[in-house]
Amino acid sequence: MQPAWRGLHVDVSRHFFEPAVLRQFMDEMAALRFNRLHLHLTDGPGWRLESLRYPRLTSVGAWRKKLPEGDWNWRDHEIGSHFTTCYGGYYTQEEMRGLIAYGAARGIMLVPEVDLPGHAYAALVAYPELALEPPPGCKLGRDVLAVENPRVRRFAREVLDEIMELFPPGTPIHLGGDEVDTQLLTREQQRVFMQEMVDYVSSRGYPAITWDEAAENGVRGQWVMLWRAEKMEEILALGLPTILCPNSHFYFDYPQRVGVAPAWQRVITPETVRSFRLPQAAHVLGLQANLWSEDIKTPARLFEMAFPRARVMAETFWLGAQGR
Ligand code: ACM
Repeated sequence: MQPAWRGLHVDVSRHFFEPAVLRQFMDEMAALRFNRLHLHLTDGPGWRLESLRYPRLTSVGAWRKKLPEGDWNWRDHEIGSHFTTCYGGYYTQEEMRGLIAYGAARGIMLVPEVDLPGHAYAALVAYPELALEPPPGCKLGRDVLAVENPRVRRFAREVLDEIMELFPPGTPIHLGGDEVDTQLLTREQQRVFMQEMVDYVSSRGYPAITWDEAAENGVRGQWVMLWRAEKMEEILALGLPTILCPNSHFYFDYPQRVGVAPAWQRVITPETVRSFRLPQAAHVLGLQANLWSEDIKTPARLFEMAFPRARVMAETFWLGAQGR
């Protein structure tokens, strides 16, 4: 049976891709009958969607300079060669409406992600009063929202309000929830905040999605995106609606050929993709491949990394109708 969720994800925060590039990307997706484009719109290196209530998210948070050596945020990465001092970009709300309509006409739903409460450095540069200060001596950077501050909760709700005004009712909204160090926020603090956000959007007709950490921490009522392959069994046992994008098979930013990357790095070849056994459980909504863009700096590279593995994925799990 073909999976209901046939997704690709693009990280537009680490590197930004213009609307025209995403339209071309959706053309390729449609040809392979992918039906979900998950956009990772916010992260440490850049905030990529216009907010009318919080304009500094893009006037400040969408642009970056190369940071001094030693700054965790952008330490080892080149800035796009066509920029000399400043890199960035964002989608206006009007552009995003156009992308939503372009996808809809091709059977592709755009799924926005606002990554909460971590991966928030760009937002915190724009609005420092929302930041959680790391405890003295802690080497972790300022990357996490101070979730117990009422202003932070209002910020998160208002940002989500704008997303819900922009995206059609019924669109799943991804709330992030990954990789927050418990030195900064305990699991319980993370759980309470994420549960509030899940309830906020889902009570308004927008299914919530989180990364698997939130489910592990006890958040309920959302759809889960499983990325940590080693957690697959444990997370599936929770019985929550789950989209599978394990980093053992579907992280398409990983090299696709042996020998092109350092020996320690995990390689995901077309054969790796083909070898995945899709669990046949009613709560498995489908599959997705993720393209994180730390090292995907140009549209050409994005397409080269996404396809042909996306073609193999489509042929194996739905175009071939093999019923695996
Ligand atoms: C993730 O790769 N942190 C979802």
